This record gives sequence, structure tokens and C-alpha cells, in this order.
Amino acid sequence: MLDYEKTYVESIKNPEIFWENIAKELSWYKPWDKVLDWKYPYARWFVGGQTNIVYNALDRWQNTDIKNKTALIWVSQEQTERRFTYGQLNEEVSKFANGLKSLGVKKGDKITIYLPRIPEQFIAMLACLKIGAVHSVVYSGFSADALKNRVEDAQAKIVICSNSYPYGKKVVESKKNVDEALKENKTVEHVIVVERMKSDEIRQSQIQSDKTSEKNSDSIQLNPIPSDFIYIWWHELMAKQSTECPTEMMESSDPSFILYTSGTTGKPKGIIHGHGGYMVGIYATLKYVFDIKPDDIFWSTADAGWITGHSYILYSPLINGITMFVYEGTPDFPDIEIWWRLIDKYKVTKFYTAPTAVRALMKFGEDHLKKYDFSSLKILGSVGEPINPEAWLWFYKHVGREKLPIMDTWWQTETGMFMITPVPSVKLKPGSAFKPFFGIDADVVDDKGNKVPTNTQGYLIVRKPWPAMLLDVYNNPTRYKETYFEKIPNVYFAGDSAKIDEDGFYWIVGRNDDVIKVSGHRLGSAELESAFVSNTKVAEAAVIGKPHEVKGESIKAFVILKQGVVPSDELKAELVQTVRKSIGPIATPDEIDFVEKLPKTRSGKIMRRVLKAQELGLPVGDTSTLES
Ligand code: WTA
Repeated sequence: MLDYEKTYVESIKNPEIFWENIAKELSWYKPWDKVLDWKYPYARWFVGGQTNIVYNALDRWQNTDIKNKTALIWVSQEQTERRFTYGQLNEEVSKFANGLKSLGVKKGDKITIYLPRIPEQFIAMLACLKIGAVHSVVYSGFSADALKNRVEDAQAKIVICSNSYPYGKKVVESKKNVDEALKENKTVEHVIVVERMKSDEIRQSQIQSDKTSEKNSDSIQLNPIPSDFIYIWWHELMAKQSTECPTEMMESSDPSFILYTSGTTGKPKGIIHGHGGYMVGIYATLKYVFDIKPDDIFWSTADAGWITGHSYILYSPLINGITMFVYEGTPDFPDIEIWWRLIDKYKVTKFYTAPTAVRALMKFGEDHLKKYDFSSLKILGSVGEPINPEAWLWFYKHVGREKLPIMDTWWQTETGMFMITPVPSVKLKPGSAFKPFFGIDADVVDDKGNKVPTNTQGYLIVRKPWPAMLLDVYNNPTRYKETYFEKIPNVYFAGDSAKIDEDGFYWIVGRNDDVIKVSGHRLGSAELESAFVSNTKVAEAAVIGKPHEVKGESIKAFVILKQGVVPSDELKAELVQTVRKSIGPIATPDEIDFVEKLPKTRSGKIMRRVLKAQELGLPVGDTSTLES
């Protein structure tokens, strides 16, 4: 049994030694000269070292028994299965990497991956890293507008998408979003299209949903619109490629990927991660927190459109040499027992999900769980938002059968890896994310950076760098510095509020900036507001997050209409569509109030804090800066 307290104290005495020992467990083309170079606010880990995430995720297994072990078990919505051994995955990745090279992709080029949760999503991600290209995965549920902004910001050379894909009973016509997003694009040279659905399947589903079969027939032709770029089928590109491709040697701090995430301004920021430090951080955290054993079948229910899908669906399980399990569908399709059936059928050992899913499934009671065995399960995990004790206990009782520990892992797109988390050997408190991981020097402080008293709410910060820390904000170093390192000088400012109790346990309260967490998805108030005002009938909008029983938070908007526009329910429905079009269905507003005025400071900034307090019936706090 791992002694947390002892290991933590040891690790924090000298985190560099702790992380260096872990880095030695991985493969490097060239070892580092220096473990950490910390030039505030930039940390560079394993300086001088050369490696590649793919070198550790795939290459190093090819001369071992792991080559024949299953790397990925994928189950489609229709319950068909695709399996890849480490050897087969390596071949597919090499082929696609060669395909990218044949299209002129070079080290450092940016590639946008707009794919649903299918094996090609993972193959594409690995292939990019293998040749030193930088991927930007855009969640397949984002709208054409959201995709457009992300492709443009990254100046992507290639976009990879699917033609159409099934999503519950619906069919999402993904390629149409790409057509629209790229209408005025200047940088994209090729669009590679995965044929997730055959034309007859698409037609069939259209007939079922009472659409005419002709209406969408262009979604199966590759060049429906005149454009400067070329569409290519994934399978045609792959057919011509060799299964051998050298893995590019990358400097430890060379970028591996960009992932866009919401912040306090209207424009999402591109978080950049590297190869060396990032892989060391994600490798160690999964290994200790989920007590990784060679025969593990690890299921993270996230999507690779989010950081969890990068760090813990794909990269860390492969670096740890275990089997990843992925289900294409949603937790309620074809019915609400699907997750439980899959756990038993595939003998999943570690199951990592989000509080919002637990709460949604909780609503259906316990009976539907009783017939499942769950004897393969060893550890459960939670991420994305605070898990309320009620949901924690339900998960513990009915899935964990009062035997399995729940790892409530607090971390962020920016941190890359788990930061505040239990390890399986410790005693837990439902609703607390336990304490910092080894080598992590976290704390809860006031606005001057002083530690707050026990059980007092303050700002969650990290004092020292950690290996999977973001490298920068893409094209915006000022924003990097201001957001993370200047709110409280010299420390990493997480943007979350927390408390530490008398036993040293951390209790995450939630965001203290204008980021809203809807079903664990990260959205910005400002981003939503600019979506509202993109409708010409809207003069101004203010958006807040409101506590929601299942989703954690829901979106409430206060909207001032332009003069002469008459408020109506139809207009509310229209605005909901405006926001869905601008961001995607995950951003669907729950409530819209038409108002005459918004609380503002004298300098014209909307005080969302006041709106929120008023909405929740809480004291509004200091209003001295309020204009009216
Ligand atoms: C929240 C997700 C409480 C938090 C990996 C953080 C959590 C934001 C937890 C980052 C947790 C994540 N308990 N809150 N276990 N995990 N959060 O970037 O507010 O999508 O700042 O990364 O999610 O969201 P992101």
C-alpha cells in the first residue's frame, strides 16, 4: 500500500528529483541536461532531452509482448466492435502519418481534427504527433462557426472530419459544418474525410427521421462546392501508404497539441502542451491514481474533444501499455443501461466518468443496476466539476458496491494532468478531491497570496511548476501571463475557489471567473454573450451560470433587445438557435429573460456577480462600483 503522506512529503522536498525519477521510466532519444528551467512565467521541463509521445505510446512496445496486446477496444453505437493490438495501431498510425506526409505536412504544421469518437480520431492524433505536426482537436459537437474560429486561429493546413456520424437517434452531418466553416478559409490545403456512415446508412436514417432521401445526398459526394482545397477520402489515402514511418525526434518542449478552451473573453484560447513534460505528468498520474496494472481495461467516458480525452483516454493509457476501452455512443443510447452492460461485457477494470453523467443516471433509480455484476471493476473516477456528496455516495454504493474507491480528480486543460486527487490507498470524504498529487505544491490563498485559515474559501493556486503544465497560450503570450501568473504574482492562478479543511482535504467550490461548467463542458460567459449579440435583434446580453441538479450549471441569459423589437417566446426560441449555431448544442441556453437594463460599473462593465446573486437570492455584496 502506497503511503500517501510519506510519499508526498518526500516528493515535495524536491519535486525535480521526484519527476526526474519518473521520467527515467520512459524512453528518450536523448536524455535531458536539466530537469527544470523555470523562468517565470515559463517552465521548461527536461531541457535538452529528446523524445516523442508516440515513441512512448507505441514504438517502445513493438519489440515486446505488448505488441500483441489489445491497445484499443472500440464499440460503435450499433454495438459492433473494432479492436487494435499495439502492433496494429502502430501500423495504422504509421500509414496515416505517411498519408499526411504525402500531402506535404511537415513538423510544426497545424492540423484540425474534427472527428467524433471513432478509432480514426485516435489514429489521427497519434499520427500528427508521430511526425511532429501539432493537432488541434475540435469537439465534433461544435458548430460550423466555432470550428471556423478554431481552424483560423490555428492556421490549420489540414482538416480531418467524418462525412456523417450517428449520435443517438440523430445523424450529424459533420462534413456540412466543415464546408461552411472553410468557405473563406485561406490556410487549409486538404480535408480528409472518414466515411463513418455509408451512403445507404445515411439514407436509411433519413428515411427513419422522415426526411427525404434526396435532401442530404450531397453529403456523400466529396466535392460538392467549389473550393481552393481538396477533399480526400481517408480510406483512399490510407490504401496507398506504407506501414513504416519513422517517429520524429522532438525537443522535450516542442509543442504536441493545441486545445482550445473557454476563458473570460469572447474568444477561446489555444492551450499549448509539449511532448516531454506532458508525457511524464500524464504517465505518472494515471499510474498512481488508478493504480495501473498490466491487465487493466481503462474506460474514460470523455471525448477527445476535451483534455480528458487527450491525457486519459488516449495518451496515458498507451504510455502505460494498457487497454483503452471506448464507446462511441452516449450514456443513454440505446438505453440507460448501456454503460453497465459494457462494463460487464468487456470486464472494464477502471471506470472514469463525470458527475453530470452520474447525476443523470441516478435519476433512474438503482433497480436497473442490480442485475449487473461489476466484479471486474477495481477503481472509479470522477472529473470535470465538483461531485456533490449525494452523487458520490450513489456512485460508491451502486456502482462501487461499497468496495471501490472513487478518485475525484481536480485538474484543467491547462494543468494537463491530475493535480488535486486521491490515490486508492487513502481514506476518502465524499465530495472532496483529497489533496495535491505528489510533487504538486498547491494551496488556497487570499487575493494577496496569503494562506487563508482552515475551512475558509479562497483562491486555488499552485506555487511551483509541474511537468504537464501548459507551455503557453497560442499566439497570445500576454493572455498567458495575465490569466495565470499575474492575478496573484509568482503563482499559478487556477480560476477555481476552494477550501482546505482541518484534515488538509481540499473542497473545490467552483470557478471564480466567468467560466461556466455545463455538464462538465467549459463555456465562457463572454463567449455566450457574443453569440447572443450576433443576432441583430439583440442590443446587449449578460450570461450567468446557475446551479442545476443534473448539469451542474445551466445557462441563464439576460437580454436587452434593440429598440422596437417586441419580446416574445418565438424570439426566445430564435435566440436559442442563434447560440446553438454560434457555438453548438452544448451551449443551449436554459433560460432567457428580456430586461430593460443590466447592472454595470461606471466604466460600462456588466456586473454578472450582481445578476447571479440576485438570481440566487443571495446578498449582492459590494455594489459601490455599480452605476445604477
Ligand atoms: C472543474 C477538465 C471540481 C474546475 C479536466 C476546473 C473540477 C475546470 C474537477 C477545468 C473536480 C475539473 N472537482 N471541479 N474533480 N475537475 N473541475 O479545462 O472548475 O475542461 O477549473 O478540464 O473544471 O475544466 P477543463
